[in-house]
Amino acid sequence: MISIGRLVLRQWRDSDREPFAALNADPETMRYFPRTFTREESDVQVDRFAAHIDALGYGLWAVEVDGVFAGFTGVCWAEGFAFSPALEIGWRFDKAFWGRGYATEAARAALSVGFLHAPEVVSFTAVLNEPSWRVMERLGMRRDGEFDHPRVPADSPLRRHVLYRTP
Ligand SMILES: CC(C)(COP(=O)(O)OP(=O)(O)OC[C@H]1O[C@@H](n2cnc3c(N)ncnc32)[C@H](O)[C@@H]1OP(=O)(O)O)[C@@H](O)C(=O)NCCC(=O)NCCS
Repeated sequence: MISIGRLVLRQWRDSDREPFAALNADPETMRYFPRTFTREESDVQVDRFAAHIDALGYGLWAVEVDGVFAGFTGVCWAEGFAFSPALEIGWRFDKAFWGRGYATEAARAALSVGFLHAPEVVSFTAVLNEPSWRVMERLGMRRDGEFDHPRVPADSPLRRHVLYRTP
């Protein structure tokens, strides 16, 4: 568990599953993903994130703001890309928590854990997902080109991704 001010990054709890599924089913929150996720798909993600934390001691943590589940951030091993294996930092927050700097603050803490396990951390998102790549830039990461995400359909405007690396 990591505690910084009003934020806590911690292992997932069963009580997170419902608000996380609601976030994943929200079309606005998921507008830069090919589609929203069902409750079952959301639960599979929770299981995967929790297992990564159990196995390695770090991963994509649930984030609480003032004791309320707000989303996730953390680092996990990305596979299946030209630049992988690579330690990737990522985030997804409920829209009620956007615009207050929480994602960047939580990610900064996650990044310091990431550096304990890898000399470099990467991040990537759809070119169109400006809110996400702006978090990368606030973290001081540098843009290192673009690539087509192999798991996004070829005709999707979300296929083109930007890759960022820590300096
Ligand atoms: C990506 C995402 C986490 C970014 O959220 P965000 O709220 O823009 O980012 P932060 O939490 O870092 O907040 C930064 C904003 O808060 C503002 N802010 C307000 N008070 C602040 C404070 N005290 N400290 C810092 N920033 C503050 C900043 O000015 C900035 O606003 P701006 O973008 O209008 O300049 C969010 O859009 C999200 O969860 N999207 C859906 C999931 C997603 O796309 N994930 C990424 C997939 S790759």
